[in-house]
Amino acid sequence: MRVAIIGAGVIGLSTAQSIYEQYHSIVSPLTIEVYADRFTPLTTSDGAAGFWQPYLDDKGNLKEREWNKQTFDYLLSCLSSPESIKMGVFLQSGYNLCKEQKPDPSFKDIVLGFRRLSERELKMFPGYSCGWFHTSLMLEGKTYLPWLMDWLQKRGVKFYHRKIGSFTELSKNGADVIINCTGVRAGELQHDPELKPARGQIIKVDAPWLKHWILTHDSSIYNSPYIIPGSSLVTVGGLFQLDNWNEHNSPTDHENIWEKACQLEPSLKHARKMYDWSGLRPARSTVRLERETIQCGATAVEVIHNYGHGGFGLTIHRGCAQEAARLLGQILGQKSCGLKAHL
Ligand code: FAD
Ligand code: BEZ
Repeated sequence: MRVAIIGAGVIGLSTAQSIYEQYHSIVSPLTIEVYADRFTPLTTSDGAAGFWQPYLDDKGNLKEREWNKQTFDYLLSCLSSPESIKMGVFLQSGYNLCKEQKPDPSFKDIVLGFRRLSERELKMFPGYSCGWFHTSLMLEGKTYLPWLMDWLQKRGVKFYHRKIGSFTELSKNGADVIINCTGVRAGELQHDPELKPARGQIIKVDAPWLKHWILTHDSSIYNSPYIIPGSSLVTVGGLFQLDNWNEHNSPTDHENIWEKACQLEPSLKHARKMYDWSGLRPARSTVRLERETIQCGATAVEVIHNYGHGGFGLTIHRGCAQEAARLLGQILGQKSCGLKAHL
């Protein structure tokens, strides 16, 4: 059984990990291959702030809620292991701020110590009339992706640095199942009018006195300022520009982000700016996580799509990876290839 995963961002690598964990001892032989034209540190997942938080408006999508929760619980369980340092996962507390009254978010029972802000706390943030304080998790892609690559390499997963032009290419190359984890560029392999880039730009600064994250919700998602302290630098954002494919930093966007962030946290004026980064969120109304049989010439190949994680790929990755691996189990069961009794 040869499983070919396209994509080496957080979604591709974590899916490879879940597949290995679920099947290496019961499917023989099992070959897992990862194909990508960008590896760490050059993927979108590497540049992300690395903060665990779903969108406030999750449109009642219960599957995504469950995958977010599974990811939080998984990462929380990792904290008791010394590996957590190498994984880049740690706890961090902070504030969500709104300019108008909002109901509690769906993740209030997933995070730790969720509570509404007191009047005294709100006075620290002029212009904001509603907000919450809680403890969440950080998972920094620039640490997590190398950890995942190392984990996979040690278990015999093979990596290929190349662009894939079509599913047929991998099918002809001998893949039995293809897992599509291509993020914002999934449309190049199969047209998807629902998938759009949502450009973001962030400024990394040295401001070690900032210990709490602050996320504001002034207008649309991630178009309002946020400040997220990481393991060494603080991430200052943000932007959400739908349909913008530009991966270069914009000086105008930089000025806008900086001005709004300094209004929110005036001490930032003393911070040393280190560098800017721009990336494209794979925006979609829902994550695409499903099976499809695709005809490649005379042969049919099974494809599992796992893309479209918007601005919450790190937040949801593990739940999606486990689900993609479960879908693979269905295919293995149908093909009954090399399976021992368990499936
Ligand atoms: P990517 O990381 O983009 O990986 C895609 C992979 O597919 C790459 O390896 C690429 O080379 C490969 N690929 C694509 N097409 C092909 C092809 N044809 N052939 C070969 N390889 C191919 N999310 C959070 O949860 N928390 C955050 O704090 C957060 N902050 C963010 C801040 C910003 C500014 C931005 C832009 C995003 C942020 N996100 C955050 C969102 C997060 O970055 C994405 O949801 C996540 O990175 C998507 O992961 P992915 O693996 O699908 O995509
Ligand atoms: C973003 O997509 O910009 C983002 C996502 C989660 C937390 C902070 C920022």
